[in-house]
Amino acid sequence: MLNYSPSATHCCHLPLAPKLSLPSSPSLSQSFPSSLYVSFPFLPQQLSSHYVYGHLDIKTEPVRRVKQRRIIKSKPVRKGLKIVNSKSEPLKVMISGAPASGKGTQCEMIVQKFGVVHISTGDLLRAEVSAGTEIGRKAKEYMNSGRLVPDEVVTAMVTARLSLKDVKEKGWLLDGYPRSSAQAETLEKLNIRPDVYIMLDVPDDILVDRCVGRRMDPSTGKIYHIKYSPPENGEIQARLVTRPDDTEEKVKSRLQIYKQNAESVLSTYLNVVKKIDGNRPKEVVFNEIDTLLSRLQKDKEESSKSGKLARSEIQLDRSSSDEKNWRGIPTRLNNIPHSREIRKYFYADVLQATQRAIKDGKTRLKVEISIPELNPEMDVYRIGTLMELVRILALSFADDGKRVKVCVQGSMGEGALAGMPLQLAGSRKILEFMDWGDDGAMGTFIKIGSIGGKEVEEQDDMFILVAPQNAVGNCIIDDLRAMTDAAGHRPVILVNPRLKDLPGSSGIMQTMGREKRLEYAASFEICYSFRLLYYAGTQYPIMGALRMSYPYDYELYKRVDESPKKEKYVILSKFPKRPSGEEINDAFEGKTRDKAKRATGIW
Ligand code: AP5
Repeated sequence: MLNYSPSATHCCHLPLAPKLSLPSSPSLSQSFPSSLYVSFPFLPQQLSSHYVYGHLDIKTEPVRRVKQRRIIKSKPVRKGLKIVNSKSEPLKVMISGAPASGKGTQCEMIVQKFGVVHISTGDLLRAEVSAGTEIGRKAKEYMNSGRLVPDEVVTAMVTARLSLKDVKEKGWLLDGYPRSSAQAETLEKLNIRPDVYIMLDVPDDILVDRCVGRRMDPSTGKIYHIKYSPPENGEIQARLVTRPDDTEEKVKSRLQIYKQNAESVLSTYLNVVKKIDGNRPKEVVFNEIDTLLSRLQKDKEESSKSGKLARSEIQLDRSSSDEKNWRGIPTRLNNIPHSREIRKYFYADVLQATQRAIKDGKTRLKVEISIPELNPEMDVYRIGTLMELVRILALSFADDGKRVKVCVQGSMGEGALAGMPLQLAGSRKILEFMDWGDDGAMGTFIKIGSIGGKEVEEQDDMFILVAPQNAVGNCIIDDLRAMTDAAGHRPVILVNPRLKDLPGSSGIMQTMGREKRLEYAASFEICYSFRLLYYAGTQYPIMGALRMSYPYDYELYKRVDESPKKEKYVILSKFPKRPSGEEINDAFEGKTRDKAKRATGIW
């Protein structure tokens, strides 16, 4: 979970970047000018406590997210189901997902643990059908054919239930509602909004199998599955029933209807979406939901104690929008300073890519993000954006209970050759001065160190290395390798590394052998990459962008002027691997490649 801390309001901004030169060549550059790599120019030797770098006011910007994580770490949350009593505003949760994604199953466990009131439109409608009411008679035909029951029928039921006293006291868990944009709009108008919108994600073929094998106990309402969750005894088994809409054919049609509506409903709740992989054993799925809701509840309790507004700051989950629900990359990227929204976009994008990669067991990762604001070669104030990104990554992993070491390289070489890249001078101090929250995360879950084997301590869970780079005459790779050797299977993330050789008269750069150095540098897998594309040799205008967020393809975007001061990015192509300059040029020129011909080099 990520809470973005406000920053822009307290920042003073240094002057804009100098005007960039106009295009000199019509072909797009994929060699990416070196200035697009982050490096850091002159930083003041003395850091005043009021110094502001970019958007990062190192003294005034508050970070409040770590407390609940620390509590989780030092006092593990009990996994046994137990009702949590809370005096703060109760939880408001929506759970969504395709038919048979496990909503009902998870709801049972959520209710047991958190005591919220479960409102399932499917269950309410089925109760009306079995009671033979007017609503039931109307709904039956729709339900049996797998279609949605008319909005007005369902909405009346839900809003009536939501207005009852128990819901106000215990909070709510809406299951299967809203299911259309009209239903979502109704709730919006009534100011009924969830703290979190959980989306269970399960592949289609699994869903069919789950539906067809589902059985329900009419006495208790408990859900079973003939394979995955068989009944406890023969007596229960004998009374189990199959839902009339659980045939393979009807499931497929329900799935189609779900897909038609899912995106429009999701778009209402984008800022509170949490996508969860539902294709795992139900207990594992619940563990993730449990952690999420427990944190949310702590957030609410703390907010109510401090008298501040409850902040349910579940991060925007771009994993849910990465592929199908892509909402476009930010515009006006040459305008410095970037807006807070733009920075948030990139922080969330990088964070989610790294989280996914680490979840998949990757241990050697690099993030390469080169937007103008992360290019401090132009002016120092942009270093703040890089530090803010690193802080968000560190806090978020710490939030998950990991002990994170944030490392900046120290002085390299010896004697007259001792030194460090000018761009990194002072960055360790900035990290130390930054506000890491007032709950003691810094020093416990987050530590600051430098790069080298000796920095690796037994208790460290992972390492974030800030822009490790070679300096003239000095090679960082030996230290880096010593560090990764000591880190073993623990993740090491390089943020904007610069590991290319730099010419050095002393030849010290050659310590390890060029080939080996390059091989080592390449052993880090890119988990996030974003760069703007310009005409070769220019930085104006922006022609497009290339983005990759693990584990998805590289996406090539073209920037299009819609009207004066209005632009958008349209996707041109996707590539499983980083495209070459030639491939990018071709995509921009609308040329398609014939793969067979390409194999022989003929077009
Ligand atoms: P509803 O009852 O809401 O059906 P649904 O959304 O299609 O969802 P399901 O109940 O089928 O599945 P689920 O996700 O709850 O999965 P479950 O936990 O049971 O709605 C029914 C109908 O009512 C709709 O078609 C519509 O006509 C109408 N309706 C409802 N709401 C409406 C609205 N807002 N507007 C208009 N019409 C509306 O699990 C499924 C099976 O998988 C079980 O057997 C379970 O044991 C198994 N299982 C669950 N989790 C796992 C796991 N992790 N691993 C293995 N098996 C698992």
